[in-house]
Amino acid sequence: MSVAVPGEDIHASLSDVTRVYPGVAGTPAVHALGPVDLKLKRGEFFAVVGPSGCGKTTLLEVLAGLQQATAGTVTFEGRPIAGKVPDGIGVVFQEDASFPWLTVWDNAAFGLRRNGVDPAKIRRRVDDALAFMGLTDFARAYPAQLSGGMRQRVCISRTLVLQPRLILLDEPFGALDAQTRLLMGDEVLRLWRRTGATILLITHALDEAAMLSDRIGAMSARPGRFMEIVATGWPRERDSKIVSDAGFGEITGRLWDNLRGESMKSLGHSGVAAG
Ligand SMILES: Nc1ncnc2c1ncn2[C@@H]1O[C@H](COP(=O)(O)OP(=O)(O)O)[C@@H](O)[C@H]1O
Ligand SMILES: [Mg+2]
Repeated sequence: MSVAVPGEDIHASLSDVTRVYPGVAGTPAVHALGPVDLKLKRGEFFAVVGPSGCGKTTLLEVLAGLQQATAGTVTFEGRPIAGKVPDGIGVVFQEDASFPWLTVWDNAAFGLRRNGVDPAKIRRRVDDALAFMGLTDFARAYPAQLSGGMRQRVCISRTLVLQPRLILLDEPFGALDAQTRLLMGDEVLRLWRRTGATILLITHALDEAAMLSDRIGAMSARPGRFMEIVATGWPRERDSKIVSDAGFGEITGRLWDNLRGESMKSLGHSGVAAG
């Protein structure tokens, strides 16, 4: 193995990646993404923001190995990703993806059971993950008995027990109210610090991106490309209180400068006011 240079330890990368969805039954092909280049540094918290439909989920799925790039190279821990989600990558999806027919505990245990992990180890890891996510008292409850924020914590627990080294989250708090979102952001920061994992968070919320991340990639309208990558310079010990920091407004302002025109494009506006 090569010796890691501090700050240059690339955990996962996309090089010159594009994704075109082929047309089906006479519909035209959709050029959804790229070309994009992205180098995620080991242990960093990276957010991707961009207008709706710009290719964010596509980017996440290509990076996770859930779908294949049309062109370009994707790597995780130095190896090309092809055809399946590699061991070490955990995904939290956009929608509440908890299994309604399983208790919270069984939801969290799902992946480990499927992988045939030893029951004693499953018990340890699930109990630990539920305690960490504040769900111990709800272990026997079903998702329908929980709030939206708690259900999303169940989904995070389900990923956490697999001990991923790279965690990909696709707009995990999209359906939650603003205050719950801020608090869930704190949970993800805690998770990030405790696991030491690299995190890629997709969000359409600029404040969320600015509060949580070391770096934020602002994407253009479809086909999504990175227009700018903004470094926040936040300390590792941080939480939602950072929204009152003077630098916070500067970062969200800069992101909005990038995204305003692109968001209008995605709404079908030219960006020029009618006279
Ligand atoms: N399976 C698919 N087949 C065809 N087009 C798709 C498919 N999935 C997504 N798209 C299109 O690709 C573009 C990007 O989608 P997506 O990655 O979901 O964007 P985002 O997550 O940024 O909202 C959109 O125009 C969407 O309609
Ligand atoms: Mg999406």
